[in-house]
This record gives sequence, structure tokens and C-alpha cells, in this order.
Amino acid sequence: LIAEVERAAKLLATQSNICILTGAGISAESGIPTFRDKQTGLWENYQAEDLATPTAFEQDPKLVWSWYQWRRALVHEKKPNPAHIALAKWQHAAKKGQQRITLVTQNVDDLHEQAGSSATHLHGHLWRNRCHDCGSPVTQDTEAPSGSKDARFDDELITCAQCGGYIRPDIVWFGEALPVQAWQTAEEAAANCDVFMSIGTSSLVYPAASLAHLAQQNGAKLIEINPNPTPNTMVDITLAEKAGVVMPLLVQQITT
Ligand code: NAD
Ligand code: APR
Ligand code: ZN
Repeated sequence: LIAEVERAAKLLATQSNICILTGAGISAESGIPTFRDKQTGLWENYQAEDLATPTAFEQDPKLVWSWYQWRRALVHEKKPNPAHIALAKWQHAAKKGQQRITLVTQNVDDLHEQAGSSATHLHGHLWRNRCHDCGSPVTQDTEAPSGSKDARFDDELITCAQCGGYIRPDIVWFGEALPVQAWQTAEEAAANCDVFMSIGTSSLVYPAASLAHLAQQNGAKLIEINPNPTPNTMVDITLAEKAGVVMPLLVQQITT
């Protein structure tokens, strides 16, 4: 692995435009279960497909709210792990140099931000709310969520001051379009980067998974950090290791 890390560091240290895509795997070592990992897969236990959809919310908003209260309780107090921290350190170092690093994440937790990174969120933010009908953001006090796995959400549903619609978590659900601005930022970064590095994503969900292909079409080199194989076949350097282990090594080599 060390040889691969050295190759990756040499490549990353010399290029000027880097695009990084992270997924649930980068938060796994912070104790947040990923979606598709076997035993802890959130999906197996909670049929995210049935809950993270606009239809589910329109049919039973309280059910969807109880699931998100539980997800907030799960993520609450989770801290950035060495992968988030190394990435933030590298972003700061790059700002001083000529390197441009665009960090795009599919995650809805705020661990990148807690570590000091700025990230483009393709799938929204677990800690924010917005109106289901007109989309206006709702400043919500981040009180510690009371959610537990089985408790049903029994508060009154909050309605939008602008249009009276129901307030919902600011997350992109199945079948919903991604935020236009976020997607444009991600597409542009992937289309103009010299190196595209994906960290902790199964690369199964579109359109996020198409960014690697876009980068490759533009001639970028591809690096992947994932202990398991993914459908990405055209990767130049694979670091088959946990992000929390390999990111500190990689950033240490890049920044010295
Ligand atoms: P999907 O393919 O049904 O939806 C993806 C959406 O992305 C489509 O509705 C489409 O509008 C948009 N899209 C596709 N290609 C695009 C492009 N080239 N440019 C701009 N927009 C494009 O995917 P899905 O599996 O139904 O999930 C929808 C989204 O919700 C996914 O991004 C998924 O990751 C996300 N999601 C989030 C959670 C969560 O809790 N964070 C859970 C489930 C799904
Ligand atoms: N370090 C790096 N990668 C890891 C680690 C780790 N410590 N642990 C697990 N992984 C890898 C797994 O091998 C898997 O390939 O992280 C990946 C997690 O993949 P998913 O669970 O599919 O999460 P993600 O790719 O982010 O899912 C994409 O789908 O459910 C929607 O919107 C949701 O953003 C999510 C999107
Ligand atoms: Zn509204």
C-alpha cells in the first residue's frame, strides 16, 4: 500500500486542479453506518427507499420525521475522523499554494465542515430544514434530537411561514433532482480537474457516480480510496484501505 500511497501523493502534489468526491465511507470511522455495508447497512434496517421519498413524506410526514429524528440522534455528537481532518488540513495547505481542491460530498452529515473543510453537498444537509412545497430554508435551532428508533414523531408538524407547506429535512430524496447550483459546481470541477479522487463511495448512485466518468473523459487521472471494489473500472490508483488510515499518510506526503 505504501508504494501506491507514494504514487498517489506524487501525482496529487504536482497537479493544480483536484476534484474529490466523498461518500458514506468517509464517515464510517466516525461511527455513522454507511448505506450498503452489510451488517450495519442503514438500508437493510430502515428501507430508506420507502422513507426518503417525497411520496412517503406526502403520505405520512410524521413517519418520515420520526425516521429523520432517529437519524439525527444517530449522527448527533459524532466527530470527524482522521480522514476528514487530513482532508481539511490539505485544503488549507492548498489554499496557500496554487492548488485548487474542490470537495464534493454525497454525505448529509456535517463532519467535513466540523473538520474545517468547505464542501459542496449534492444530497443536502441532515441538520437543515426547508419547506416541502416552496423550498424556502428554515432556520431551525439545532436542539439535541429526541428521536429514538421506535419513537413516533408526535410534535405538531411545522408549516412554512411563506406558503403553509410542511417543513421537511433539507435532504435530496429518491427520485428528486439534486440542487442545481451544487450539481453545476460538481460537474464543472469534474470536467476541469487533473486528478479525480473518490473516497468512501460505492459509486452506485447517480448522478453523483457519473462524475468519475466525466473526469476521465476530460483526461483526468482517477484515484479511489475504498477497502472494497466498486464499479469504477478505469481507476489509475486504487488505495484499498480505510480512509481514516490512508488519508493521513497521503496528506502527510503531499504537504511535506
Ligand atoms: P434518482 O436517479 O432517482 O434521482 C437522481 C436525481 O438526480 C434525478 O431525479 C435527476 O433529477 C437528477 N439527475 C440525474 N442525472 C442528472 C444530471 N446529469 N444533472 C442533474 N441532475 C441529474 O436517484 P435516487 O436513487 O432516486 O436518489 C435521488 C437522490 O437522493 C440521490 O442523489 C440519492 O443519493 C439521494 N438520497 C439521499 C438519501 C439520504 O438520506 N441522504 C437517501 C436516499 C437517496
Ligand atoms: N473508508 C473508506 N471507504 C469505506 C469505509 C472506510 N472506512 N468503510 C466503508 N467504505 C466504503 C464501502 O466499501 C462502500 O463502497 O464506503 C462505501 C459506502 O457506500 P454507500 O454505503 O453506498 O454510501 P454512498 O456511496 O455514499 O451512497 C451514495 O446513496 O443512499 C444514497 O444519498 C445516499 O449519499 C448516499 C448515496
Ligand atoms: Zn413554503
